[in-house]
Amino acid sequence: MRLSGKIALITGSSSGIGEAIARGFSTEGAKCIITYKDKKTNAEKIADEINADLCLQLDVANRLSIKSVFEKIKSTYGKLDILVNNAGINRTADFDKQTEEEWIEVIDINLSGPFRCIQESLSVISDGGKIINIGSLSAEYGGPRTPSYACAKMGLTALTHNAARFLGDRNICVNTLSPGVVGNEFTEKTMDPKVKIKALDLMLIKRFARVEEMVGGAIFLASDEASYMTAQTLSINGGAWVRA
Ligand SMILES: NC(=O)c1ccc[n+]([C@@H]2O[C@H](COP(=O)([O-])OP(=O)(O)OC[C@H]3O[C@@H](n4cnc5c(N)ncnc54)[C@H](O)[C@@H]3O)[C@@H](O)[C@H]2O)c1
Repeated sequence: MRLSGKIALITGSSSGIGEAIARGFSTEGAKCIITYKDKKTNAEKIADEINADLCLQLDVANRLSIKSVFEKIKSTYGKLDILVNNAGINRTADFDKQTEEEWIEVIDINLSGPFRCIQESLSVISDGGKIINIGSLSAEYGGPRTPSYACAKMGLTALTHNAARFLGDRNICVNTLSPGVVGNEFTEKTMDPKVKIKALDLMLIKRFARVEEMVGGAIFLASDEASYMTAQTLSINGGAWVRA
């Protein structure tokens, strides 16, 4: 097992990619901390199924909520080995229709949230630990109808680089895992049907990803196999040649 004895916090792990990563890490021997914003019942079910000790409410927009989660991790385990900044939202709109409120909310959760979590993790994360930021293909091409989201995710790439620079002396690796389009509720809720057709057309593998297809990359980045990999982006996107 590649993550045996590791303690892993996955933000937004009551659904989707975060849930799949928590299940995958757990299969590889990690002890995962499940966190939810509002889907408590889902989170408790997952925590129960993967034998997690901690299932905690976490709002990445709220510094106090983050502090309280890290304090709980410190008092329970005395360390954290892996942080996955997965929590995220999207508010789709054409560039001229994106509201100030949407812009602020998306940047706050998708970019400032990981910034806060990394800062608060510093006193508990082990030297040699791993931080994975869940980015997006949108960042790479200014994704259609997602100005705030594309900018937040591009900013997240810069955050990855900056944190990797700061944490290199402690052998803490910080990387971005960048999914393409995943065929889940997140995409159903936020992607315009016309954009979906266009996106599919540009993919070399002519379908959207399954959440489980993000898990192998996350396990790799969290494991000792990736001990010399930092400040990089691992893209899992079906060969989306969307720059064309
Ligand atoms: N689905 C896709 O096509 C896709 C593509 C690229 C990147 N991503 C990214 O993957 C990540 C997971 O998305 P998903 O597809 O699993 O969707 P999802 O909606 O199932 O997961 C997002 C999670 O974030 C949580 N969350 C939202 N706001 C939060 C907050 N303030 N504090 C803490 N948690 C909060 C939600 O409760 C949810 O559990 C996101 O960062 C998303 O941007 C998704």
